[in-house]
Amino acid sequence: MSDWYRDLANSGVGSTLVKQLGLPRPAVLRRYEPGAPLLTGPAVVGTTGGSRLHEILIRLLEDAGVPVQPPAATDGERLGAVLLDATGVTGPADLSAAQEFLTPAVRRLGPSGRVLVLADPPSDAGSPAQAAARQALEGLVRSIAKELRNGATANLLVVPAGAEASVPGPVRFFLSGRSAYVDGQVVALTTADVPADEDEERPLAGRVAVVTGAARGIGAAIARVLSRDGAHVVAVDVPAAGDELAEVVNEIGGTAFQLDITAPDAAQRLIAHLRERRGGVDVVVHNAGITRDKLLVNMDAARWHAVMAVNLQAQLDLTQALLDAEGVLRPGARVVCVSSQSGIAGNRGQTNYAASKAGVIGMVRAWAPAFAERGATINAVAPGFIVTEMTARMPFGTREIGSRINSLQQGGLPVDVAETIAWLAQPSAAGVNGQVVRVCGQSFLGA
Ligand SMILES: NC(=O)c1ccc[n+]([C@@H]2O[C@H](COP(=O)([O-])OP(=O)(O)OC[C@H]3O[C@@H](n4cnc5c(N)ncnc54)[C@H](O)[C@@H]3O)[C@@H](O)[C@H]2O)c1
Repeated sequence: MSDWYRDLANSGVGSTLVKQLGLPRPAVLRRYEPGAPLLTGPAVVGTTGGSRLHEILIRLLEDAGVPVQPPAATDGERLGAVLLDATGVTGPADLSAAQEFLTPAVRRLGPSGRVLVLADPPSDAGSPAQAAARQALEGLVRSIAKELRNGATANLLVVPAGAEASVPGPVRFFLSGRSAYVDGQVVALTTADVPADEDEERPLAGRVAVVTGAARGIGAAIARVLSRDGAHVVAVDVPAAGDELAEVVNEIGGTAFQLDITAPDAAQRLIAHLRERRGGVDVVVHNAGITRDKLLVNMDAARWHAVMAVNLQAQLDLTQALLDAEGVLRPGARVVCVSSQSGIAGNRGQTNYAASKAGVIGMVRAWAPAFAERGATINAVAPGFIVTEMTARMPFGTREIGSRINSLQQGGLPVDVAETIAWLAQPSAAGVNGQVVRVCGQSFLGA
């Protein structure tokens, strides 16, 4: 599905016109292609005094073949990324070093460039001044994200002491085209056993992944991306979507499993299949979801229950059953739950949907410690405005406004949600647990 306005704004005459009228100029985003370089230009790496992560960042960039320039270089080449190790700030005065580094560096950032700041957690600061300085970095990064243009993004990684091994995987994600539509986000890392090596092109080789609601839309994109990354995908959807489901699995060489996830025996049937045919499961993506919109004053019990059953109760029941079924959820397992921006911001006419999607966030946060104990993780992604057949059917005005009110001035694609889920499923994302990653282009709703 093409974005007619983005295409116009990037055409010869159109670009002059939208500039003169002061209209938004959405860029063509850099998206991941296997084999593509991590960045399209050199990087600069700054510090604010402390430099706990500086060496890790330099090594990662060198390993990826990215030239690292000194921050003060002035050769005019557009930068692919600006990284700031802001760990070690002790008070607001230290933040001036961040500004002094970022101002000239961000000026040189190229199209679809990346700003990535790494910071200590405010929660374990030694003094209110230190907590203030650490928290200040969040405001700084979210504002940079709003100022950047040309498809560039800014994000913040929070790295507690001891979680250094968790850093490289998430840094690679945020620099790469996989994070094209993830902007203005804060992701906190934890200490975890992270495998030293990963096949970056097929990080899920040999893994079994279940994707619910995989017959179309975002679920089909998730199935394709997990398969591209090496996983065998067990694609689940209702029997009524059997033909579409078969098309997806034929394309990717996966397995179709027709199942209504709200059926009383759904979890047991799926677990039996995984145990008998696949010997277990490594990745579970709870993607199936429905809407039954009505204002609360007109809401009926059927609409309320249908949405709760698919969007929340089925995720709870299947996850609990997998945890209880001995030997099915393999060591290092990943559960990724699809929430929604509506679950963060609320939405008119969606009390049932927003409640279910907020519930998913509560579930993920509550389960994270138990997953960590098993060496596993559970996270949520919250898509914003994603261009699907559903959004294509919206009235023109609603669709245009909905897709433009974000820092990237365009809707995301199903593949953007899929890439974020595939990243959370990677072995090198072991230190990301209990997080909610919005894939929303820094939507202005529910920020
Ligand atoms: N499209 C967006 O902009 C957007 C935004 C935020 C969140 N989301 C969420 O992303 C997920 C996918 O959305 P989409 O736009 O691709 O939706 P979609 O309606 O195109 O696809 C959902 C799939 O889930 C399946 N499904 C529904 N009930 C099921 C059940 N009981 N058992 C098994 N499968 C079932 C459907 O048959 C369908 O194939 C949903 O959880 C949705 O809430 C979408």
